[in-house]
Amino acid sequence: MELTPDNRKTFEEIVARYPVKRSALLPTLRLVQEQEGWLSREAIQHIAKLLDLTPAQVHDTASFYTMFRLQPKGKTVIEVCTTLSCALGGAEELLHYACNKLGIEPGDTTADGRFTVKEAECLAGCGGAPAVQVNGEWLEHATEADIDKVLAGETVRRSFEWPRSPGEHILFQNVWKENSTSMDVYRSSGGYGKLGQWLGMEPEAIVEEVKKSNLRGRGGAGFPTGMKWGFLPKDSGKPIYLCVNADESEPGTYKDRVIIERDPHRLIEAIIVSCHAIRAKTAYIYIRGEFHEGARTLEKALAEARAAGYVGRNILGTGLDVDIWVHRGAGSYECGEETALIESLEGKRGQPRIKPPFPAVVGLYGCPTIVNNVETLANVPLVLERGAEWFASYGTEKNGGPKLYSISGHVVRPGSYEAPMGRITLKDLIYGEGYAQGIRDGHELKAVVPGGSSTPVLLADEIDIAMDFDGVAQAGSMLGSAGTIVMDDSTCMVWMAKNLIYFYKHESCGKCSPCREGTGWMLRLLENIEAGQGTEKDLDLLWKITDSISGKTVCPFGDAAIAPPQSTLQKFREEFEYHVREKRCWKTVAPTFAEAKARSGVSA
Ligand SMILES: Cc1cc2nc3c(=O)[nH]c(=O)nc-3n(C[C@H](O)[C@H](O)[C@H](O)COP(=O)(O)O)c2cc1C
Ligand code: SF4
Ligand code: FES
Repeated sequence: MELTPDNRKTFEEIVARYPVKRSALLPTLRLVQEQEGWLSREAIQHIAKLLDLTPAQVHDTASFYTMFRLQPKGKTVIEVCTTLSCALGGAEELLHYACNKLGIEPGDTTADGRFTVKEAECLAGCGGAPAVQVNGEWLEHATEADIDKVLAGETVRRSFEWPRSPGEHILFQNVWKENSTSMDVYRSSGGYGKLGQWLGMEPEAIVEEVKKSNLRGRGGAGFPTGMKWGFLPKDSGKPIYLCVNADESEPGTYKDRVIIERDPHRLIEAIIVSCHAIRAKTAYIYIRGEFHEGARTLEKALAEARAAGYVGRNILGTGLDVDIWVHRGAGSYECGEETALIESLEGKRGQPRIKPPFPAVVGLYGCPTIVNNVETLANVPLVLERGAEWFASYGTEKNGGPKLYSISGHVVRPGSYEAPMGRITLKDLIYGEGYAQGIRDGHELKAVVPGGSSTPVLLADEIDIAMDFDGVAQAGSMLGSAGTIVMDDSTCMVWMAKNLIYFYKHESCGKCSPCREGTGWMLRLLENIEAGQGTEKDLDLLWKITDSISGKTVCPFGDAAIAPPQSTLQKFREEFEYHVREKRCWKTVAPTFAEAKARSGVSA
């Protein structure tokens, strides 16, 4: 196999973006796959030769990522997300509908090679449940009629329509404008207007402003951004890198996607200023592989920004250089973890490093590196434009600035909404007229995952809490990435825990045994319990497994994975016991647990 002349040129351009050739591995695998349809043994050998690697190294990396095809696939690949928000919206039924129509099982390809139907893990299309991608293009709120059309050879695309939030839109200022992705629209709202002035500031002065603003990382942990930047060693003599975390893979979270797909120049300007603040000359936007539209949008915006002199050498005549490159992932939740992201960027499996050392000291290519979330960075120009005091006072104490909240599941109006951090409660977000507008007709709220699938579940009477890092922590959960998933009274909590453990088992990177073995073990137990084949001992065993994972893994994935089974066992133990005692799921008996209990003669 050989690259076509055009692809050879693209390959040379890709390699030139990185100081280490192996970093070009993921983009090259993608390029070859797009050319050949899949990655044959010959293709792997060819890539190895191109990048001075062994075929074993190439295969080792390729086999880690779900988006690389080591077997031929159908001409049309239909991927149905079956993670929690989509499953609550009927994704499992849709998946089986497509498979039954074609007479295949999930993951299979039809004998004529026309179609492959696969399950996908959360695609960051949670509000558009069930979210489907057909050959990488969005088909959100997908229906059986859509599937029929796709199977008949029609092109059907549907992207989620972002509903507006009430109040002031700052980060979302441009989202609903026509042509919102263009540089002209961004400029007409003041974008790039003060860039020259900010690039004239001393980097330390920007870091100080960000410290004073109380901006906390929006990727999940809420770590103060200015403090993180302050950890960079002075005069290490090595280049400094900025890695923009656009992996957005935490189930329930789909807010960075709005900025990426609707206002890419906001992110680009933020990256340029942040690079100046931390003295980085190169930034890589690590974007999840499934964001096909997002990657195209960013590339186009970057080309415009380069042509206008905002990106590249001697920006606006300031003598400063900042290069920004889009680096696409290939299907792995764990690559959102900052050190796994760095490994993946270096062209390896997305497995985390042991910390310390932290990336600020030893990161990409062994150099000082800052990893920041898209939304975090998007706030930086705002801190400079309106001032640190304004920013700090816009949110709540120690939680500065505007915040993006995603909400999905059994609500009337799912969406990603903007509000001053912590100035709305979880209850406002779920029931507010300008937000999710409450629970779908005829149902009651049962449970809420407030901050993405890794955060412990809250009960219906625990939602009167401020949606900031401290408010949600006080209620015994976490704000995390602020991806709220709402479940009504038709939801079986054993099924819910099983659904999320399926996700974590699938996504465990396998590096440490408590997580690698524990997630599989928990899944088997939950499958048994849900099917009515579990015992009282299984409930204790499930708890013990969560206990032996807690705090004992290489990265926080382990603690994330145990949040659903632990918190459901704690708060909904009665439902687990029902499955064991009655040897079936209560959903086979009645539409709600309360009714099922009444029918079994169990007192409420
Ligand atoms: C399993 C796992 C997955 C993660 N996924 C993401 C992600 O998709 N996006 C993100 O920004 N941060 C994610 N993080 C957090 C990152 O490790 C890191 O804390 C974050 O990018 C730092 O940026 P911030 O300080 O701006 O929040 C994840 C962490 C873990 C443990
Ligand atoms: S906890 Fe261990 S196995 Fe799980 S994702 Fe992290 S490093 Fe990988
Ligand atoms: S896109 Fe399906 S759960 Fe997020």
